[in-house]
Amino acid sequence: MAATSPAGRPRSASLPSAALLADLVGAGVLVAASTPAAHALRADERRFVAGAVDARRRQFATARAGARALLARLGAPTVGLPIGDDGAPCWPPGFTGSIAHTEDVCLVAVTRTSTAARIGVDVEVVDAVQCEVWDLILTPDERASAAAHALPPRMAAALFCAKEAAYKCWAFRLQHPFDPLRLTIEIDAAGDAFAVRDAAARLLPIVGRLAHHRGHVLAAARLPPAADAPRW
Ligand SMILES: CC(C)(COP(=O)(O)OP(=O)(O)OC[C@H]1O[C@@H](n2cnc3c(N)ncnc32)[C@H](O)[C@@H]1OP(=O)(O)O)[C@@H](O)C(=O)NCCC(=O)NCCS
Repeated sequence: MAATSPAGRPRSASLPSAALLADLVGAGVLVAASTPAAHALRADERRFVAGAVDARRRQFATARAGARALLARLGAPTVGLPIGDDGAPCWPPGFTGSIAHTEDVCLVAVTRTSTAARIGVDVEVVDAVQCEVWDLILTPDERASAAAHALPPRMAAALFCAKEAAYKCWAFRLQHPFDPLRLTIEIDAAGDAFAVRDAAARLLPIVGRLAHHRGHVLAAARLPPAADAPRW
């Protein structure tokens, strides 16, 4: 059963459009946004939320149901999508994807590894990225960029959202526990694309896109097919 707003309207009414999402992830990537709801889990998925609160179970199950539906459209086998040792979902061979949640939105994207070696998506509520945490999540350059923007909270949330999406597709390359201050995001003048630098200021082979929708910011990052080789 879909959740409803206090006014009784389906929350899905506030979900981003298919056109916005398709533009966000780009060609060859399938994406869906949905409202967290109860969905059946497969046997190899249940243990990951066995002791979880209902909200987490709904998030986890909605993401799996959404990912399976998208994977089926790509011709992938219908399989469980358990959590791997690194926290990322385990995708069927030949396919990859990414998942993000807020209280109201579950965002899922999948593709073939011939289209992208890895992808990452994220969604954030702009007002939730409080300035008190900027020092913990944004580099000095990013903080300066946010402070100089006409809407600093919106820019800070976009930088953080982009960083989380980039992290999800780059985490497999990191040799240490992730430190958000070791990735720097550079958002273009139009505000809808971003590049990523590592701690040594090297440009990473990540293509990033951003979108805004009703107080939320959404980010998608992708690595080109050959970019998960030992050296790019
Ligand atoms: C991975 C991480 C970025 C997820 O962010 P979050 O705000 O907790 O949660 P989100 O809703 O955005 O994403 C959750 C999803 O990320 C995915 N995820 C978790 N670890 C991942 C990893 N190593 N690589 C790729 N995806 C991963 C999972 O699919 C998870 O959903 P699921 O458990 O339902 O499958 C976060 O948990 C993390 O480990 N961060 C590193 C530490 C940090 O400081 N991050 C903040 C600055 S970038």
